[in-house]
Amino acid sequence: MSIPIKSAAQIEGMRLAGRLASEVLDMLTPHMRAGVTTLEIDRLAHDHMVHVQGGVPATLGYGPPGYPPYPASLCSSLNDVVCHGIPDERPLKNGDIVNIDVTVIKDGWHGDNSRMYIVGETSIAARRLCQITFEAMWKGIVRVKPGARLGDIGHAIQAYAEHAGYSVVREFCGHGVGARFHEEPQVLHYGRPGTLEELVPGMIFTIEPMINAGKRDIKEDRKGNRPYDGWTIVTRDRSLSAQWEHTVLVTDSGYEVLTVSAGSPPPPAFAAAGYNQTPAAVLQQPAAALAAT
Ligand code: MF3
Ligand code: CO
Ligand code: CO
Repeated sequence: MSIPIKSAAQIEGMRLAGRLASEVLDMLTPHMRAGVTTLEIDRLAHDHMVHVQGGVPATLGYGPPGYPPYPASLCSSLNDVVCHGIPDERPLKNGDIVNIDVTVIKDGWHGDNSRMYIVGETSIAARRLCQITFEAMWKGIVRVKPGARLGDIGHAIQAYAEHAGYSVVREFCGHGVGARFHEEPQVLHYGRPGTLEELVPGMIFTIEPMINAGKRDIKEDRKGNRPYDGWTIVTRDRSLSAQWEHTVLVTDSGYEVLTVSAGSPPPPAFAAAGYNQTPAAVLQQPAAALAAT
């Protein structure tokens, strides 16, 4: 097994899938309010992917070995949920922080991204966790260039998060993405500089750190005596957890973020220089509209 290198035509397919995935998150933004249930959010995203974008929600029915088929079109991970939260009937409350993770398949290509949303007003501590996690993801992204190694990415993320007093979840990682949802390489969010695989132009993978306010340990979320849903992961100490995710291409000179759209949160100042992106005017025209023609 080895890391797929995408051709120019394959990269074009990934650009469209990535932009569509980002546009789903844009579309959801005004709906992320107190009183809305995550099942309603899931339904909105599902219908947008299928009926507006002509795509397929990659998570629906997804079941790698050892997992039951995932029952929804996105993951909604609330407060102490680390990842893979399943949408349900509970309404969002003022002060919640929630990660929404969307993966769209378009013409066979997967675009995978997630963002944190703050419901109403939350604590300074929760806001800081969301912000530092966003910056930690970007600390990893800016390391991406030919000749760099995966360990450089992991180290940059870990150093930044731990310096801020947080911990990095070890059990889940970023991943190669393309014709398959999860392919090689594994992209750890911790590590040592100069170690692991060397990056080569045409590689595409996600960077998606899960950062805990407390200890890094996690557990399966077993609610009372109900059977485990097979997916939901929470912090062991029930501290808050945050996550952001982009799909990133290794270019000849650095990186290109593929999961971008008109509503993408702008990169932090330290990343602005290398952020060689589609002009704003082009992004204003939703890819969904292009795809539908
Ligand atoms: N989108 C997640 C990721 O970033 C994977 C979710 S798999 C699911 O890799 F089945 F839980 F949806
Ligand atoms: Co991913
Ligand atoms: Co994802």
